[in-house]
Amino acid sequence: MGDANSAAQAAFRSAMRRFTSTICLITTEHNGVRHGMAATAVQSVTADPPTILVCINQSASISKPLKDAGRFAVNMLHLSHAPLVPLFSGKLKGEERFHHGEWISLDGMPVLADAQAAFVCELQDAVNVATHDVVLGHVLEARFIESIAPLLYEDGKLVRSSAIIETAA
Ligand SMILES: Cc1cc2nc3c(=O)[nH]c(=O)nc-3n(C[C@H](O)[C@H](O)[C@H](O)COP(=O)(O)O)c2cc1C
Repeated sequence: MGDANSAAQAAFRSAMRRFTSTICLITTEHNGVRHGMAATAVQSVTADPPTILVCINQSASISKPLKDAGRFAVNMLHLSHAPLVPLFSGKLKGEERFHHGEWISLDGMPVLADAQAAFVCELQDAVNVATHDVVLGHVLEARFIESIAPLLYEDGKLVRSSAIIETAA
């Protein structure tokens, strides 16, 4: 049973390495302290009302302050932000992470001034699934810059998007 489980998990991990996604920095501020982490488990849920979801490991340092603050921001990264990823995924801790990048406060949340897109969200619900919380956020404010050059994560590497094959309907 254990072997079957670990084989299924290994297959799951390998299959997910084929899933290309835009890297985001999830941020929050609670009691005057900023918290942030790199995340790819981010998805639009519905446009009416504007809702986003983020999957956050309960062991991540942002997990509790985000729920306590009841508010968070999703900062979608541009290619130019590649150096921030290791800093926001363990290399630095706490406030030190915000010593890099240009941060502003929007609706009380830390937002990367030149994020490709940024969303400030009110926490709507958090559903626990094993190690993670699926956090649903009602979008209070969305902003973006004109340049579209997303920083992507694929096969464990930071990559850029490739040429257009066809325009989707
Ligand atoms: C490219 C990338 C994507 C990640 N995506 C997620 C994610 O979606 N959810 C998550 O909980 N952790 C994700 N992580 C891991 C967290 O960034 C990392 O574990 C976290 O910053 C460490 O928590 P700490 O703040 O306690 O150091 C990702 C890491 C990287 C490098």
